[in-house]
Amino acid sequence: MSTNQPDPKWISEFLASRRSTRDFLPTPVPNEILDQILTDALTAPSWSNTRPFKVAIATDEVRDRISNEFLSRWSVLSQIMRRGLKNKLRLIYSRYGLPTSNRSIVKPYVAELRPRAQRVGKELYELFGVKRGDRTARDAQWGKNYSFFGAPVELFIYIHKSLHIYAASDAGLMMENLMLSAHAHGLGTCAQGAVNIWDDVIRREFDISKDYRLLCGLAIGYPSNSPVNSFQAHRIDVSEMVVKPKKFK
Ligand SMILES: Cc1cc2nc3c(=O)[nH]c(=O)nc-3n(C[C@H](O)[C@H](O)[C@H](O)COP(=O)(O)O)c2cc1C
Repeated sequence: MSTNQPDPKWISEFLASRRSTRDFLPTPVPNEILDQILTDALTAPSWSNTRPFKVAIATDEVRDRISNEFLSRWSVLSQIMRRGLKNKLRLIYSRYGLPTSNRSIVKPYVAELRPRAQRVGKELYELFGVKRGDRTARDAQWGKNYSFFGAPVELFIYIHKSLHIYAASDAGLMMENLMLSAHAHGLGTCAQGAVNIWDDVIRREFDISKDYRLLCGLAIGYPSNSPVNSFQAHRIDVSEMVVKPKKFK
C-alpha cells in the first residue's frame, strides 16, 4: 500500500457510523458548509453524466411555510385515516389533506420486505415510547416528519421523468454522497419519503419544471443529544443480498 493511501478500515468505520438523525437542533447550517456538501454530492457517478435531478433548498420562511402546510394537512389526513367511513368520505369530498403526488408510499409493503420495515418501525416506536396500538401517539410521531424533525434545512429531491429508474438511482448516489459529506461536517441527515405526498405545496414555493417529479425530502442540521439519534437500525447480512449462481445452490 502506498503511504498516501488511507487505511481502508477508516472508510468502513466512517460509513458504519452514519445513521439517520430524527431530532435536530435549531442551529442554522452555515452557507459555506451547505455549499461544500452540495459540491461533494455532485462527485457521485451518474448515468451518461446527465445528473437528472434538481434540488429545492428550503430554509427560513420558505421551510416554515412548507412545514406548516404539511402539518396542517397531516392533522386532517391522519385523523380521517383513524376514523370511520363517514370521515373518509368527507376527505374525498373536501380533498384537503389527500395525497396530491405519490400515493404509493401509503401502500402496504410486499411480504418479502415487510418484516424489515416492521422491525425498524417497531424498534423506533419503542425508543420514542409509543405503545403498540396507540395510533394517536404513532401518528404524532410520524407527523414529526412534517416539521422535518426540527431541521433548519430541508432539501426536496426531484428527478427527471424521462430517465425513470436511472434518475432515481442517480439521485440516490448523489444523496448518499451528500449525507456522508454532511456526516463528515458533524451534521445529521434523514432522507424522508414521508414528504413525498403533497408536491403541490413545494411547487408553490419553487419554480420546478413538470418534467421533474418529487423523489423524497432530506433533512439536514445539527443532531441533538436525543437517544433516537444513536439508534442503530438493523443491517441485513451480506448473504441476504447476494444471489448465488444456480449450480452452487
Ligand atoms: C429514500 C428514503 C426515504 C426515507 N424516508 C424516511 C421517512 O420518511 N422518515 C424517516 O423517519 N426515515 C426515513 N428514511 C430513513 C430510513 O428509515 C433509514 O435510512 C433506515 O431505517 C436505515 O437506518 P439508518 O439510516 O440509520 O442506517 C428514509 C430513507 C431513504 C433512503
